[in-house]
Amino acid sequence: MNRVTKAVFPVAGLGTRFLPVTKASPKEMLPIVDKPLIQYAAEEAIAAGIDELIFVTGRNKRSIEDHFDKAHELEAQLKADGKKQLLDTVQNVLPNTTSCVYIRQPEALGLGHAVLCAKQVVGDSPFAVILADDLISGEPGVLKQMVDLYEKHQCSVIGVQTVAKEETRSYGIVKGKLSEQRVYTVEAIVEKPLPEKAPSTLAVVGRYILTPKIFAMLENVTPGAGGEIQLTDGIAALLSHEKVLAYEFVGKRYDCGNKFGYLQATVEYALTHAELKDKFRAYLKSLKF
Ligand code: UTP
Repeated sequence: MNRVTKAVFPVAGLGTRFLPVTKASPKEMLPIVDKPLIQYAAEEAIAAGIDELIFVTGRNKRSIEDHFDKAHELEAQLKADGKKQLLDTVQNVLPNTTSCVYIRQPEALGLGHAVLCAKQVVGDSPFAVILADDLISGEPGVLKQMVDLYEKHQCSVIGVQTVAKEETRSYGIVKGKLSEQRVYTVEAIVEKPLPEKAPSTLAVVGRYILTPKIFAMLENVTPGAGGEIQLTDGIAALLSHEKVLAYEFVGKRYDCGNKFGYLQATVEYALTHAELKDKFRAYLKSLKF
């Protein structure tokens, strides 16, 4: 059986909704309390059994590479200062068994194009795609839930959640037939339909397990919604060759690609953070609105 051991992290987007902070720093390095979004995404992949992390990066994304690299000077300083716990934190950003590969997307031509940039490194294996700006808390992690489903059905699986009708214009939307609890056989998928044209309110969020057949599909995709090469259009083409499942995951998603979702995640993660939760809860209660 083919196992899912690779995950692609497209991190080459421009992050315009977060300007000016994203002018010189990647959106994926925005912290939720004390960890950057990209680290939550990497941890979710590792918890799903993935050991090769493939980052599709662009200009201004160097800090992502630095974050997952060894920090010799910092480690030496923490060691000299006897700061054991901080040293552990810095040294254990990733387990030793995990490897990282960085590929450049020369131009931000769209998510589908970013995934296609990983073709040579992924090769002929199934792989996960994680969008780090969709932060999802779940136990087990959402990617683990999806890998389990992949192992059962051996076909592409895309993560979905129900959204309000007026929000369909912001998502890829799936038309599917319920085949088991939380699982739909995908019949159609469209990018950012207007509410009156949307086939359902099942929206694709940033978790995918794809078969390598997707690359041949993406090679033939022409720019779609927003003038971008859309992953959704590649998946739509895949439907005429292979079965694709949509999975309504168990977990809470925060859309950290926009400011409001990012603030919600920050507040809710702070309220569960071991070191901060009591103080932060008391602070929130003390605020007068
Ligand atoms: P978004 O739609 O959130 O785009 O991309 P964006 O450019 O990052 O942000 P805004 O809309 O301008 O604020 C979804 C994911 O796909 C990646 C992004 O980095 C993000 O993780 N992406 C998008 C790429 O890697 N390359 C692209 O060409 C486009």
